[in-house]
Amino acid sequence: MNEHLVTSGNRDGLENYWLPFTPNRYFKRNPRIIASAEGAYYTLADGRRVFDCLSGLWCCPLGHGNAHIAEAIKRQAETLDYATAFQMSNPTTLSFAARVADMAPAGLDHVFFANSGSESVDTALKIAIGYHRMKGEAHRTRIIGRERGYHGVGMGGISAGGMTANRKMFAPLMLNGVDHLPHTYDRAQTAFTHGQPEWGAHLADDLERLVALHDASTIAAVIVEPMQGSAGVVVPPVGYLERLREICTKHGILLIFDEVITGFGRLGANFASQRLNVRPDMMTFAKAVTNGVIPMGGVIVADEIYDAYMSGPEEAVELYHGYTYSGHPMAAAAGHATLDVMERDGLIPRAAELEPVLETAIHALKGTPGIVDIRNFGLAAAVDLEPFEGQPGLRAMRVFERALQTGLLVRFTGETIAMAPPFISTDDELQTMCATLGDAIASVTSPAA
Ligand SMILES: Cc1ncc(COP(=O)(O)O)c(C=O)c1O
Repeated sequence: MNEHLVTSGNRDGLENYWLPFTPNRYFKRNPRIIASAEGAYYTLADGRRVFDCLSGLWCCPLGHGNAHIAEAIKRQAETLDYATAFQMSNPTTLSFAARVADMAPAGLDHVFFANSGSESVDTALKIAIGYHRMKGEAHRTRIIGRERGYHGVGMGGISAGGMTANRKMFAPLMLNGVDHLPHTYDRAQTAFTHGQPEWGAHLADDLERLVALHDASTIAAVIVEPMQGSAGVVVPPVGYLERLREICTKHGILLIFDEVITGFGRLGANFASQRLNVRPDMMTFAKAVTNGVIPMGGVIVADEIYDAYMSGPEEAVELYHGYTYSGHPMAAAAGHATLDVMERDGLIPRAAELEPVLETAIHALKGTPGIVDIRNFGLAAAVDLEPFEGQPGLRAMRVFERALQTGLLVRFTGETIAMAPPFISTDDELQTMCATLGDAIASVTSPAA
């Protein structure tokens, strides 16, 4: 039994708990336990403080333990802890829908709430397919995603997503007719690019190839992350999203931006759509909307899509879709409080201000043995490592373990270390984060633990 774990009877829970996206047996041999968190730091069960380099899982831009959010949740729990979202609503959820819509680009004014990124993606895909049906184009059923895309773990998300490991075991469950654009990462062309790469806009033209192959009349929507987070901060090439927008418009295909990690400030603007000046037809969001404190997600929908649904008899349900916890008042209260703090403390402009600080500090690691690429955009960055021969992913895991010993909680997937620090970070903290990561990478020279 681990000395840092609280026990229930004679059990510490390790045997009972099945961790998500984690090698369970390896973890349970030497569990890593977080005891508490404050600001930009976690405290581990053994008392060590570590910097939260990924803002939770991209979801805590205000850091942890924010008193304003805690108070808002308490107040909401005392006033209205839960309210059904079917046939009823409540002031907190209604006003939060308006606030989210106000932050979105003009013309995207309708908000459907879910509880996670995965649910938000599946909701957006359903809305897209239903929209074409409402318009008399029921033959438009095909979804186009992108290789290496991550859209959560629902059936729609893994089908449109392009991560082999998340798909192969569930192949029989995939949606029919989904196709994929090529991903936009080519190390030979873009290694060590600062910000958006100049190379790669032409890859959007592959959508024309898919249109020629399947015919536009079969395609409902294209879904992409404007900046890919889970694939390791893959930054959109200059002109790429603009080109996707053009082709979608030309062929009557809806464009969905999955803004689950980019929404609410990560790129120094409310949404990536505004930073990159491309207006999609729908945007999914989750994570930072409540600072990760209470789960919430949703889809922001263009007026013409919403209007297309509002055409039947007024007493009839227009969209047979929704969750018990859609627009949960506690989540809406946490969302209001999150946006209050973002506005009050100017945290989205602060994220923009920190972008060059992170850029300079992370690119200073170029030349460190083992690093084969560094990328950055907004308040996010990634470092790719040369794999140890025959042991893919192990080098990044060893760096993760070393960094944890020296004060950083980083995220790794495959051979990539990703960082998306809290907006409340100081310049110094970002510089220390990058330097400490560099030391950890330099010290990991063999697969041994
Ligand atoms: C772009 C994107 N979409 C969807 C999801 C899934 O979100 P969740 O884990 O809340 O279901 C994620 C999670 O990282 C994401 O990055």
